[in-house]
Amino acid sequence: MRGEFLSGSAAETREYARRFASGLGAGDAVCLTGSLGAGKTEFIRGIAEVFGCEDQLSSPTFSLMNIYEGALRGRPVEIHHFDLYRLETEKELEATGFDEYLSGPFLSVVEWGEKFPLYENRYTRHVTLFIAGEGARKIVIT
Ligand SMILES: Nc1ncnc2c1ncn2[C@@H]1O[C@H](COP(=O)(O)OP(=O)(O)O)[C@@H](O)[C@H]1O
Ligand SMILES: [Mg+2]
Repeated sequence: MRGEFLSGSAAETREYARRFASGLGAGDAVCLTGSLGAGKTEFIRGIAEVFGCEDQLSSPTFSLMNIYEGALRGRPVEIHHFDLYRLETEKELEATGFDEYLSGPFLSVVEWGEKFPLYENRYTRHVTLFIAGEGARKIVIT
């Protein structure tokens, strides 16, 4: 799924995310871009719903990375949820094993991934969320 979508609520954003997620699998790495409160985590919640692990989801703003045990079409898929907001240097990021997570047989979803251009070419999908008013978001998927 690619294109521009207008969402009028958090629930609608999750619905777009669910449609998007049905085309994802192990080996994909999704970069999520957007200001604080734009809906990156909400979008990831929709992805986690498709993989049946939304109950495990929590915002990794303080923990940097969370791992969820998900599944799609009967196959287990490990999801790595990163939030790079608080990271400042590539060195710090490297120390988390980020490189291995992006190249392994996992589904990686990365909030604030665009902060580290070194990894730009490792993402298979980009999702950008723009605040378009109270309750409204523009979602661009490439
Ligand atoms: N259309 C929308 N899509 C996504 N979130 C929305 C929308 N409208 C309002 N919100 C609210 O905006 C906030 C988004 O938070 P979050 O997903 O944590 O943002 P981020 O991870 O980008 O900082 C939530 O409180 C959510 O309820
Ligand atoms: Mg977030």
